[in-house]
Amino acid sequence: MTDKKTPPTTTDAGIPVASDEHSLTVGRDGPIVLNDHYLIEQMANFNRERIPERQPHAKGSGAFGHFEVTEDVSQYTRAAVFQPGTKTDTLMRFSTVAGERGSPDTWRDPRGFSIKFYTSEGNYDMVGNNTPVFFIRDPMKFQHFIRSQKRRADNGLRDHDMQWDFWTLSPESAHQVTWLMGDRGIPKSYRHMDGFSSHTYMWINAKGEKFWVKYHFETDQGNDFLTQEEADKLAGEDSDYHRRDLFNSIANGDHPSWTLSVQIMEFEDAKTYRLNPFDLTKVWPHDDYPLIKVGKLTLTRNPTDFHTEIEQAAFEPNNLVPGIGLSPDKMLLGRGFAYADAHRARLGVNYKQIPVNKPKSPVHSYSKDGAGRTENVTDPVYAPNSKGGPSADPSLTDDGGLWHADGDMVRKAYTLREDDDDWTQAGILVREVMDDAARERLVNNIAGHLKAGVSEPVLERALEYWHNVDADLGDRVAKAVKS
Ligand code: HEM
Repeated sequence: MTDKKTPPTTTDAGIPVASDEHSLTVGRDGPIVLNDHYLIEQMANFNRERIPERQPHAKGSGAFGHFEVTEDVSQYTRAAVFQPGTKTDTLMRFSTVAGERGSPDTWRDPRGFSIKFYTSEGNYDMVGNNTPVFFIRDPMKFQHFIRSQKRRADNGLRDHDMQWDFWTLSPESAHQVTWLMGDRGIPKSYRHMDGFSSHTYMWINAKGEKFWVKYHFETDQGNDFLTQEEADKLAGEDSDYHRRDLFNSIANGDHPSWTLSVQIMEFEDAKTYRLNPFDLTKVWPHDDYPLIKVGKLTLTRNPTDFHTEIEQAAFEPNNLVPGIGLSPDKMLLGRGFAYADAHRARLGVNYKQIPVNKPKSPVHSYSKDGAGRTENVTDPVYAPNSKGGPSADPSLTDDGGLWHADGDMVRKAYTLREDDDDWTQAGILVREVMDDAARERLVNNIAGHLKAGVSEPVLERALEYWHNVDADLGDRVAKAVKS
């Protein structure tokens, strides 16, 4: 009997169904008939409920909120989202990198830090991590890197030997692996970690002047971490520990926030700065480029449907708005292609029409048809035309001529500068940023990781790797591994 307080169940076509409990049979004890369309709709939809998970960053959580500009940085960018007083709706997604969609939140891993700003000039996506640097500096190595962190071909197991094999043969990873093996490798929650653009981007102001910029979202909750022991225990007790924390905090009105500051480099300085400012394995020392405050990002609303609002969210570093551009960071340029391609494979070609990915500003594109299209297309369907269709206005964009590039086509690493080596900044992190207790945890985390399945010759290379980062650290790791 229908409960008068709830609406009657219908099929997806809106047609009332006869029963939530019984399939249509020939007599009470007879066979089920093929024309029980509702039963078949339930079975068919169920069989298709799962969509492919993201390749990296499969396990994540997200929420909605807003970004409010509290300072005036208009001398650096004309982007509407960063003009004084502007408040913009945002979506954020936090994630681990290597684990699958159901993997424990507390595994040691960098954390993704993705933001979609629904700006008045179209969607702007900042797809960063909780670390200011990355493992590699050329997109050619990315797929190999991720495979080394995921699972072996033969037994389907994750394998520390494979991870350290890749890292020790890629010394540019040292800075990021030091972050990863330190306290930042397992944040206490998604609320207790900073976020970084990691990459250098370009900002362009209203006069057309260009600057290089790095973003720092500092947590207003304070940085906090889990020890390896706490994290291991939680992985067994509550594999959704970080997802639960974020959801419950927001549900209880405890809205997490981050303060955005930027480092700004004059356009011309990039040519002569002592290290390559586009190398993703390096930070810009704050003494040279201090933080300049911009505004605050606050999360206020949980998703009501995790699938449509978080699983189907599509972030892409190529979503840039006027006043913000890419830089000659080869990784960033590679990402400019990779994400939209991933979304077409994962969600279908019309993924930008899924409500969570839809801009809140008008769309006048010439894209047409394809699977999953929901918006009507109107004529004319081509440009140029004399029928009143949209026409490009270059004055609204920063397209073309943003930086000068000239040279032979080569396959080579960035040209080295005075301070461009793989070990120095990692060593500074160990010696000058960590205190004694953090260094002790670092030694134990590295040694624990190495003891869990790393064999020769990789182990010897790993000990040398840490010796290169810092001689004392290297000695302590060697002692701890052999104890
Ligand atoms: C996710 C590619 C480097 C942060 C992804 C995805 C791909 C990808 C294909 C899955 C997208 C999806 O299915 O929705 C690459 C490539 C890289 C690269 C080719 C280098 C050439 C980086 C770097 C960062 C980063 C340097 C951080 C600074 C993220 C984040 C996500 C992600 C946060 C999850 C996005 C979300 O929340 O949906 N990446 N990535 N990636 N990547 Fe990268």
